[in-house]
Amino acid sequence: MVCTVIVDGFYGDTGKGKIVSYLATKDEAAICVRAGVGPNAGHTVVKDGKIYKLRMVPCGFVNPNTLQLIGPGVLVNPDLVIKELKETGIESRFGIDPMCAIIEQKHILMDQSDDNLKNVVKTTGTGTGPCNADRVMRVAKLARDIPELKQFLSDVPTLVNHALDEGKTVIVEGTQGTFISLYYGQYPYVTSKDVCASAACSDVGIGPTRVDEVVLVLKSYVTRVGGGELDGEISHEEAQKRGWDEYGTVTGRQRRAAPFSYSLAKRAAMINGATQIALTKLDILFPEAKGVKNYEELGVEARAFIRRIEEELNIPVTLIGTGPGVDELIDRR
Ligand code: IMP
Ligand code: MG
Repeated sequence: MVCTVIVDGFYGDTGKGKIVSYLATKDEAAICVRAGVGPNAGHTVVKDGKIYKLRMVPCGFVNPNTLQLIGPGVLVNPDLVIKELKETGIESRFGIDPMCAIIEQKHILMDQSDDNLKNVVKTTGTGTGPCNADRVMRVAKLARDIPELKQFLSDVPTLVNHALDEGKTVIVEGTQGTFISLYYGQYPYVTSKDVCASAACSDVGIGPTRVDEVVLVLKSYVTRVGGGELDGEISHEEAQKRGWDEYGTVTGRQRRAAPFSYSLAKRAAMINGATQIALTKLDILFPEAKGVKNYEELGVEARAFIRRIEEELNIPVTLIGTGPGVDELIDRR
């Protein structure tokens, strides 16, 4: 693997954080570069038994040799950046592109008070939609205008492309999910920009010819927060019974849940040009899969589920999550 883009094939919250942190470590990534909307994302990473909930710092931080960057397409909340840098201690290997637009308090207030955003779309209230609107109106502040960020400003497209020229491994970390993309989700129940693989490339300044692998992350069941349709949605009580009840990393809201959808997975694979599937939380569907590291040790039903995904999508399932720990994973690459 040289340049790998990691994106979410459902509605976000499929467990990209774990996949990004695993690959950054396993493949000795030179760079992990964050794409996506901004701090409306919440990525959970477990390192040395400690749980990190990251909204700005890329999940590749777990590898001490990996440079962590935020691409110019991403919206930055400076307070959150400073807070997460303290938590992760990666100040010396971290960069923000000067062209990142800045989320201000007024954006957050608008996101949390606008009737359509708050009550219809049910946004995360983190200011990303109003900030992107200001960016399009060309009145947003940029990272280059913020003194507290000066020391971190880096030309992200140049760093990423040079690393690729040298044959180094780069991981592009997408956020949100295919079906909350502004273009490919169920408008208006979507986030404020496209979040598919091509957009992730654009966010960090690489052309489509530079990408070697697109890893589509799918969870073993589907969850969604906010408004919009969810095919096959089950009740919160039923979700609790099945162990599918989850709570938002950013908002704490209980996520809505539904069974795995082959049709959504297929469409996501198409739109993102997926070359590999990472399937997460297999142990929630098949408890005997918990902690399994070899494919052969999986039960018959779990293997049949994986085979069906591969047959329907015609793409190999290369990474399989079998628990929250970084090492609770099957790597079939
Ligand atoms: P916004 O991105 O905060 O404007 O929210 C728009 C919609 O996308 C809402 O339904 C949010 O719940 C959803 N959303 C935004 N970011 C994420 C994410 O990282 N995971 C899951 N849902 C998200
Ligand atoms: Mg999340």
